[in-house]
Amino acid sequence: MKIALLGYGKMGKAIEKVAEAKGHEIVYRVDLNNAFDFLPVSLQNVDVAIDFSMPTAAVDNILKCFEANVPIVIGTTGWYDQFDMIKDKCLNENQSVLYSSNFSIGVNIFYKVNKILAEIMKSHDYDVMINETHHTAKKDHPSGTALSLAKQIMNEIVKKEKIKDRLMFDNQTPSQSTKPNELLIESHREGDVMGDHTVRYENVIDIIEIKHSAKSRYGFARGALLAAEWLVGKKGIYTLDDILNF
Ligand SMILES: NC(=O)c1ccc[n+]([C@@H]2O[C@H](COP(=O)([O-])OP(=O)(O)OC[C@H]3O[C@@H](n4cnc5c(N)ncnc54)[C@H](O)[C@@H]3O)[C@@H](O)[C@H]2O)c1
Repeated sequence: MKIALLGYGKMGKAIEKVAEAKGHEIVYRVDLNNAFDFLPVSLQNVDVAIDFSMPTAAVDNILKCFEANVPIVIGTTGWYDQFDMIKDKCLNENQSVLYSSNFSIGVNIFYKVNKILAEIMKSHDYDVMINETHHTAKKDHPSGTALSLAKQIMNEIVKKEKIKDRLMFDNQTPSQSTKPNELLIESHREGDVMGDHTVRYENVIDIIEIKHSAKSRYGFARGALLAAEWLVGKKGIYTLDDILNF
């Protein structure tokens, strides 16, 4: 496949390595330095675009792919407030999008376990919270993965009506308590952590935790490439769930 990388940072470079090792060709790369040159016409001869850029750039990049009729796999998080507009446009204009807040297969197994655990815990008296830790350069919080986990939990545990987003620095003590109807997501920013997520249920008797830790970026890169290979030739809006068989 001929691939355009929209965003050529840590993830773009990891995807390039995995793609080239599989015999694909990177024919176009966009980062902050040449973003102003990027037009739909830049994507002629491209089979698929893969976007790991920035929350502020993602929607524009998707719209350019629509204009160029190029399928797009989108890993960038932090743009989901415009999801409905993108979904409508994608379906109305017969375009192709595959998005995921986390392209790691392991995290998608974790999503499945989270869903099953939440189904069990809805009839038990525990409080629940999410902890996420990422590198200090991460722009958005909570992480897209934490928000996906929260959505799954709130679908089952209806007393949790809204998210409480708390960004923590240097193990500080939280200044505000959490209300019973709030699902707390604590976001920590430390060093070069690739992505740790913990879901924690607690009552006076015990604690139940499930945790996923990414050991490198290659898990995300491999998943994104798998998604790109799958998306070419399809129309519509998809997630990784449409590919994975669990
Ligand atoms: N879904 C997943 O599995 C997953 C995994 C890891 C990271 N992410 C997300 O992917 C995004 C990128 O992550 P990263 O670690 O590579 O970040 P990064 O900061 O290393 O790279 C971002 C790149 O985007 C470029 N950029 C800036 N403006 C741009 C524009 N207008 N058009 C194109 N590129 C532009 C920057 O120059 C940089 O090269 C973030 O939103 C991150 O949260 C998602």
